[in-house]
Amino acid sequence: MARTAFVLGGTGMIGRAVVPRLRDVGWDVTLGSRGEREHAPGLEGARFAPVDRREPGSLERAVADGADVLVDVLAMRPADAEQLLGLAGRVGSLVAISTASVYAGTDGRVLDDMQGPDDFPDYPVPIPESQPTAPPGESTYSREKAAMERLLLEQDALPATVVRPCAIHGPGDRQAREWFFVKRALDRRPYVVLAYRGASRFHTTSSANLGELVRLAAERPGTRAVNCGDPEPPTVLEIGRSVARILDHEWVEVLLAGGEEVGGTPWSAPAPLVVDMTAADHELGYRPVTRYDEWLERTVEYLVAATRDRPWQAAFPVGARYLRFDYEAEDACVRSLAAR
Ligand SMILES: NC(=O)c1ccc[n+]([C@@H]2O[C@H](COP(=O)([O-])OP(=O)(O)OC[C@H]3O[C@@H](n4cnc5c(N)ncnc54)[C@H](OP(=O)(O)O)[C@@H]3O)[C@@H](O)[C@H]2O)c1
Repeated sequence: MARTAFVLGGTGMIGRAVVPRLRDVGWDVTLGSRGEREHAPGLEGARFAPVDRREPGSLERAVADGADVLVDVLAMRPADAEQLLGLAGRVGSLVAISTASVYAGTDGRVLDDMQGPDDFPDYPVPIPESQPTAPPGESTYSREKAAMERLLLEQDALPATVVRPCAIHGPGDRQAREWFFVKRALDRRPYVVLAYRGASRFHTTSSANLGELVRLAAERPGTRAVNCGDPEPPTVLEIGRSVARILDHEWVEVLLAGGEEVGGTPWSAPAPLVVDMTAADHELGYRPVTRYDEWLERTVEYLVAATRDRPWQAAFPVGARYLRFDYEAEDACVRSLAAR
């Protein structure tokens, strides 16, 4: 009989990458979501179960028939971990999507606390899973994730793999970091202005690689944390060049020494955030299925198509909260550099 997987939050970007990988090797997959998000390509062949995980009893009802593995794309806070552990007896194991931003630097700092570049955590390069994570404290995204992780990792009711991806991209991405460069290329900007000389390296995670890692974790239940970052993580300069190449555009790169407001990108940081992929290889036999620049073609295709018939802010509601296209400020910056 086919192994069964329930993917909670399965109709989003990560679901679109996880579902085909599980189905390709014969898993019987059910997707759970509230049904607000449309079912995109890649989800064919999976069953759908309406569920709102925040509604008491809803998840329990949705997995009443049991599943060999429950993949939780939306494990955000300790209450979510408690809810998952309450499914012991109904599900055989768990895979929960966390984030690499749970890591604390060797100076104890975490990304969420950053007020300026001097606060960037002092991370080892690369960061192994043994690096301490955010201590409990004010409830921020990474601290909540770290607390959620601890509950899953420090129990023996259910095997639970915690996966720590970095800056994810792929079809279905509503954060849409790559839109930063894609829009500039579509607008035929003559130059791009980049802070930190475009040398920042903030590890990327292609959704296809994440899908593969989740598949392996589903097939080898165990309690552990594993990083998930692409092979040879690109710099900001390399990300911009790859987008420009895909969209057949050329721009002049204006490289600023510091982290000024003009020139900041979604990956800009004063020091690297790069994760160690050795444990995924040793524990799960993980091998990446794609490279950043290869999977980027799918991301760019999706970003362009998603904005064809609606404003980009509607297509990428998460990105709309922080992506900036202040061309006037960039023009002024370039003019002032030229005048020197
Ligand atoms: N983006 C990144 O760079 C990044 C980096 C590290 C970690 N992560 C982690 O990745 C996860 C987000 O994954 P994603 O990008 O695939 O998300 P997504 O594209 O926004 O998809 C979210 C999915 O969850 C469903 N959903 C939302 N609220 C729900 C609820 N209350 N009950 C049931 N289903 C619900 C949505 O469908 P409906 O709306 O129809 O319910 C959809 O299927 C988060 O855990 C985040 O912390 C992201």
